[in-house]
Amino acid sequence: MLSQIILTILSLGSLASSAPQVHPRPIQEPPRLRKEWRLLNIIERQHYISAIQCLHSKPSIYQDLVSSSGSLFEDFSVIHKLQAPYIHGESQFLPWHRAFLWTFETTLRNECNYTGAQPYWDYGHDIDIVKTSGRDFYSSEIFDPVTGFGGDGEMMKNNDYPRRPPNMPLGIGGGCVMKGPFSKDKFKLQIAKGDKLGPADPRCLTRMFNPKVAKDWCGHEVEEAMKRTKSYKEFYQNMQGNSLDYNQSWGLHVCGHFSVTNVDIFIRTTDPLFFLHHTNLDRIWWEWQKRDPKKRTKEIDGKLKPLPSYFPDGDYGNFPDEKAEITLDWMVDIGRFGGKVKVADLMDITKSPVVNYEYSNTFAGWDDIRGTEKFKKEVNRLTALWEKWRSAGWSHDM
Ligand SMILES: *[C@@H]1O[C@H](CO)[C@@H](O)[C@H](O)[C@H]1NC(C)=O
Ligand SMILES: *[C@@H]1O[C@H](CO)[C@@H](O)[C@H](O)[C@H]1NC(C)=O
Repeated sequence: MLSQIILTILSLGSLASSAPQVHPRPIQEPPRLRKEWRLLNIIERQHYISAIQCLHSKPSIYQDLVSSSGSLFEDFSVIHKLQAPYIHGESQFLPWHRAFLWTFETTLRNECNYTGAQPYWDYGHDIDIVKTSGRDFYSSEIFDPVTGFGGDGEMMKNNDYPRRPPNMPLGIGGGCVMKGPFSKDKFKLQIAKGDKLGPADPRCLTRMFNPKVAKDWCGHEVEEAMKRTKSYKEFYQNMQGNSLDYNQSWGLHVCGHFSVTNVDIFIRTTDPLFFLHHTNLDRIWWEWQKRDPKKRTKEIDGKLKPLPSYFPDGDYGNFPDEKAEITLDWMVDIGRFGGKVKVADLMDITKSPVVNYEYSNTFAGWDDIRGTEKFKKEVNRLTALWEKWRSAGWSHDM
């Protein structure tokens, strides 16, 4: 069924006439400066949160295809949902999400008068604080109920869920977000879960905090080990992590999601933190690219490899060109909002004809943990662990 849906969507996606299309940037527009959440002032933080709420108050333009979508905000989950098995764990993961985030940021500006850029969340900074001060990860400002995204979900008796990665410790919470702008009385979702299109499934936003996951796999050591990889393939595989065994090597992508937990790969986008997490990954990709810009703004790799467990019979469905080699000419598809964008046009954020943004210097001078012997030792340990399981065969399924 999934494959039929995708074919339908991809063929209809660009036909919608009422869609708020994102056009290539006007060349004269100055680059948007994306800042870490804590580097926004309180007013800027509130503007961002209001813009999300505004997007969530506007009617969906996808209801003809995904009847459960309740708003323009949920339409971004539609776009993600329809392609989820094809945009994770393989080569187009990073350029696809780069175009997706640009489209989201642009839509906040066009539809909701947002004047800022998409912020990011550097959780490594929080882990540094946890490690140096013993503070609880979840007392981070990002979870502030007034100026942030609110905290954990209500405590549930049973916190287990299907497809929990082997050896992964259970989280805390799991119910409706209790406080802040996305708590159950203020923020209602209805988009169907998984790859379902409908019917509407009215519910709250849930969270399940996982401080152990965060401490083990969201730190700057993990980021630095990832930045030491030499090829694009190694880089994105390291970032995506190995989902087969928690003890092996997880990577920042999975950690960012599972430390606050939205386990449904299709609709992880329903938690606004998704966008701050993925913008952080995009920042790190850009920093990795800048370490060897000539090579790394041209480097993409590998075949399209849909996540295996979603296609147990080995039939990848009707996704166009399922065995395609992802090259610089490959078109990522951001549906009705963003259209199709050539990978080559996404590789250099400062010279792209499509995207136009920069990242502010993260916490320069804030972290005293980098540069210490302990930090270097941990980076070496993680690098060795990664080399071990990479050579044993890499696998990603979430
Ligand atoms: C955006 O600004 C315009 C012009 O000031 C106004 O008409 C419109 O209502 C605003 N839209 C939102 C969503 O605030
Ligand atoms: C793997 O992790 C689990 C729990 O997280 C732990 O109990 C177990 O000892 C670990 N196994 C190895 C081989 O490290």
